[in-house]
Amino acid sequence: MTPVSTIVSFLALFLSLVTVSCDVIRLPSQASKFFHDGDNSSAGTKWAVLVAGSRGYWNYRHQADVCHAYQLLRKGGVKEENIVVFMFDDIAKNKENPRPGIIINSPNGDCKLWASDYTGDEVNVGNLFSVILGNKTALKGGSGKVVDSGPNDHIFIYYSDHGGPGVLGMPTSPSLYANDLNHVLKKKHASGTYKSLVFYLEACESGSIFEGLLPEGLNIYATTASNAEESSWGTYCPGEDTSVPSEYETCLGDLYSVAWMEDSDKHNLKTESLHQQYELVKKRTAATASSYGSHVMEFGDIGLSKEKLVLYFLAQTQTMKTPPLWMKIHSGHFQDLQTSYRKAPEGSTRKAQAQKQVLEAMSHRLHVDNSVLLTGKLLFGISEGPAVLNKVRPAGMPLVDDWDCLKTLVRAFEWHCGSLSQYGFKHMRSIANMCNAGIQMEQMEEAAMQACPTVPNSPWSSLHNGFSA
Ligand SMILES: *[C@@H]1O[C@H](CO)[C@@H](O)[C@H](O)[C@H]1NC(C)=O
Ligand SMILES: *[C@@H]1O[C@H](CO)[C@@H](O)[C@H](O)[C@H]1NC(C)=O
Repeated sequence: MTPVSTIVSFLALFLSLVTVSCDVIRLPSQASKFFHDGDNSSAGTKWAVLVAGSRGYWNYRHQADVCHAYQLLRKGGVKEENIVVFMFDDIAKNKENPRPGIIINSPNGDCKLWASDYTGDEVNVGNLFSVILGNKTALKGGSGKVVDSGPNDHIFIYYSDHGGPGVLGMPTSPSLYANDLNHVLKKKHASGTYKSLVFYLEACESGSIFEGLLPEGLNIYATTASNAEESSWGTYCPGEDTSVPSEYETCLGDLYSVAWMEDSDKHNLKTESLHQQYELVKKRTAATASSYGSHVMEFGDIGLSKEKLVLYFLAQTQTMKTPPLWMKIHSGHFQDLQTSYRKAPEGSTRKAQAQKQVLEAMSHRLHVDNSVLLTGKLLFGISEGPAVLNKVRPAGMPLVDDWDCLKTLVRAFEWHCGSLSQYGFKHMRSIANMCNAGIQMEQMEEAAMQACPTVPNSPWSSLHNGFSA
């Protein structure tokens, strides 16, 4: 190895050990008729909202998750007119996609592209909320499809993307904040337009989206890929899983998402309950001695989980095989860059480019970590700062009491220090703790200005676009 490549490898190893970069995952939303109503399964309509919150080829897995979920629901008999899909749609036709027009969510997978209802910049928080609330007049662009549900209907929402404490990514700015999402769910409940709603959410720190925020009594049952303080993980990743076809340089799926979908592909959904699926998914997603994992959580009306998974999913029961391996990696853009670097031929232009990208990504990470830490020290003192930033509130308490404060401080920080990017989502808790400690915008402005005297003209912005422009 050349000295530089040795340094790159060393730094990469170092960073992958010290910075648990979150494969922030999104919520998978699924068709609303996910379970049947006791003995009255014919009553009501099943609706689904499926959201891939990312863009970019290195985030292949999120759109692959959503493609798989769409197929699963369609095969199960949920009508196309009742499934609303949010997908940036830059994967299937991406020039890096080794199989044009096809997205795979497992080594043997095969998911054909279909028309997404909301693509590109139409994948945004405003449209997502309008779709859930069934408000056509508030939509901006897209197919115009909304969850036009009635009181007997069942709604399934699945989201997959990167996240951080209290926040979920979207391919466009702004990000989706936990309090706003819960507010919309409460509003939907108040409108009396569903019987029950199931929310499956894949993202890092996804437990923080509902913890202390989603009350009982809304007829909502939610499960999340991870608890409020940990990463969720990608799966079927090149270099880690030998079954992944060699032409792929990106992870094909996310661990929790693939777990619930492959379970749905495999089991008799007429007899399997949401609770049984929760237990199976929890087991498969958990860390083992040899692999990464996370704690799958459940929130809301847990009692709903005794309902059965929809019988419509039965059709493909016999044909699906369980994939051989469960190797998992803490995936993300950074891992993909490292894979590209490793795979590029020695001495090639491609190798040089990949090396440059790895170095830029590392430098971005160091900048983000250092500037958050320095801001904390400026606000709370050198010895107290880190303790305040790392504080975790007791279970059952939301991340922050004043969500507007969190949004304001994030904006102020980014104004001076540059975009947090999806990597920096993990610092949401630190910024939330600043709010909980009573820090005001002016104090944040001052501290961030000192921490970041020059605005970084981020060379990494092209790598980390989509979050906080
Ligand atoms: C089943 O659904 C029908 C139509 O909505 C309704 O009239 C009936 O009361 C329901 N039966 C039960 C047992 O819930
Ligand atoms: C739908 O959205 C529009 C525009 O934001 C708003 O004025 C209207 O009140 C909304 N309708 C409902 C029923 O919430």
